[in-house]
Amino acid sequence: MDSAAPLPLLGILGSGKLGSVLARRALKVGYRVLVANSGDPDRLAMALSYLAPGAEACRASELAEWADILCLALPFEAFLAAPLRTGEGKIVIDMMNYLPEAEGAMPGLEERPEASSEAVQARLPGARVVKTLNHLGFHEVEEDALAPGSPGRRALGLAGDDSGARAEVALFLSRLGFDSLDLGPLRAGRILGPGGPIFGKRLSLEDLAGLAGMGGL
Ligand SMILES: NC(=O)c1ccc[n+]([C@@H]2O[C@H](COP(=O)([O-])OP(=O)(O)OC[C@H]3O[C@@H](n4cnc5c(N)ncnc54)[C@H](OP(=O)(O)O)[C@@H]3O)[C@@H](O)[C@H]2O)c1
Repeated sequence: MDSAAPLPLLGILGSGKLGSVLARRALKVGYRVLVANSGDPDRLAMALSYLAPGAEACRASELAEWADILCLALPFEAFLAAPLRTGEGKIVIDMMNYLPEAEGAMPGLEERPEASSEAVQARLPGARVVKTLNHLGFHEVEEDALAPGSPGRRALGLAGDDSGARAEVALFLSRLGFDSLDLGPLRAGRILGPGGPIFGKRLSLEDLAGLAGMGGL
């Protein structure tokens, strides 16, 4: 890794609980961070000045165009309704959870709510979608972050169909303060969803690999 290379420009769509904590943490470890929600960037800029000082507000369409890594931190239902477009090859981190009991049944996901990231990929066909950061509590993004090599460092699972995007996201997670387990294709990320064996659990890399059926990694 070239330590002098600039960090990718991070874009976060959604400025609520998860979006604002992630923005704060990413700023702290050196990222330039853009944030958008569904509203007016001037109002958002005001909120960011105390929620995540240093984060820059923009429109969702600008965020999708400018960010090197685009994090989805909005309700899944809102994502499906949003007119979001991304360029070919854009890395998109799907941190959303589809909760049918709260958001209602979504066409195509009635029988398999855990396939929501595959639905995100289908909606953004040119993007390289990676699922991660969906299976911890928003406050834990700051509370559980530790330097690489720290004993007990928490590990997060990640899954996506593009191996290069998975590697970049693993680097992003490490900079944030987490180990990661590469689960492979997006479909394998179903294990990370609500009701699955990993959701909400603080796990070391070894324990995560064991639960994911990849013991020994
Ligand atoms: N909370 C957690 O601990 C946690 C942890 C992991 C994953 N997640 C997942 O992360 C997502 C967000 O959760 P949250 O708890 O942060 O929710 P939240 O606090 O309700 O925030 C949601 C954000 O999304 C924005 N939003 C809504 N519709 C939008 C649109 N069309 N375009 C752009 N932004 C829009 C909202 O702002 P406006 O309405 O003003 O646009 C708000 O800033 C969910 O899918 C959740 O399952 C949450």
